[in-house]
Amino acid sequence: MMRAILLWFSRQKWLKNFFMKFFISRAVVKRFVCGEELEDAIQAVKNLNEKGLIATIDHLGEEVTNWDEAQKAAGFYHDILEAIYKSKVNSNASLKLTQMGLKVDFQKCHDSVEGIVQKAKGFGNFVRIDMEGSDVTQKTLELFYNLRQKYDNVGIVVQTYLYRTEKDVEGILNLKGRIRLCKGAYKEPSSIAFPKKKDVDDNFEKLTKMLLKSGVYHGIATHDEKLVDFTKKYAQEESIPKGTFEFQMLYGIRSDLQESLTKEGYNVRVYVPYGTEWYPYFMRRLAERPANLFFLLRNFFKR
Ligand code: FDA
Repeated sequence: MMRAILLWFSRQKWLKNFFMKFFISRAVVKRFVCGEELEDAIQAVKNLNEKGLIATIDHLGEEVTNWDEAQKAAGFYHDILEAIYKSKVNSNASLKLTQMGLKVDFQKCHDSVEGIVQKAKGFGNFVRIDMEGSDVTQKTLELFYNLRQKYDNVGIVVQTYLYRTEKDVEGILNLKGRIRLCKGAYKEPSSIAFPKKKDVDDNFEKLTKMLLKSGVYHGIATHDEKLVDFTKKYAQEESIPKGTFEFQMLYGIRSDLQESLTKEGYNVRVYVPYGTEWYPYFMRRLAERPANLFFLLRNFFKR
């Protein structure tokens, strides 16, 4: 129930200003978002790299409604790739297609993302396309499939809460596409998504096996220790070397687990978001763990 309410909040633009102005202080947001500027992200990645962690940088923003905003967002990604190259940090980039104008003009969005992937290719880098709500799943996959025919440095995300995902994984693996496997962070109806956590987790295990067996380098994105242990055990049993996949986690969440996995010799990539448009991202993090609301309330009184 609480999750549903918070996810509903995350989509309400009219509430965004209220929350941003009166309720959520920057100190609170900083738990999940490294800062507002690209330099903050580069510094955060440097700190992670020093601990043996690798990263993916995300410029916060989604659901743009006009092409100017989409172009501006693409510009941020060109800057991110240049900054990663110049600073020599170990990071790639993650982007959301609705920030790149997917809902404004599919073809323009495709071409714009192609420009970003091309630029990354020139730098020997990689771009991950995040997966958003089910209203754009099909279009996101179509755009990814188009780009994957031409570029090997682009990857995609799939969500284990969707019934369709097993089929999608088969299609992506046919193209040897690199996948980030996650549970899924949006509010979806039971007609298309498993309503029970156990089924989402079981599907996560099933799809983890498919990915690890595929011979392609994938990302297992979860903070769920049971699933992390499952992945480690399965890889061991099947003699799948540690270096052939990576764990992925979000900035500010289970840093202890991130570091301990690195010490055990696993690759761990941290998703590092930055920017001013943190509201929907932040609300999704609250929805994942309603206990975070207490953290929010505690800090509210410290403003
Ligand atoms: P689960 O929610 O069961 O949490 C397991 C444990 O992790 C909790 O008990 C708690 O300890 C900790 N934890 C999890 N979330 C927390 C939070 N917000 N605050 C504090 N502790 C928390 N989703 C999507 O739909 N599209 C995408 O593109 C991505 N991309 C993505 C990248 C990366 C690197 C990660 C790790 C996750 C995503 N996600 C995502 C989000 C994902 O779908 C999912 O919502 C979250 O990872 C939470 O699910 P867990 O697998 O961590 O398990």
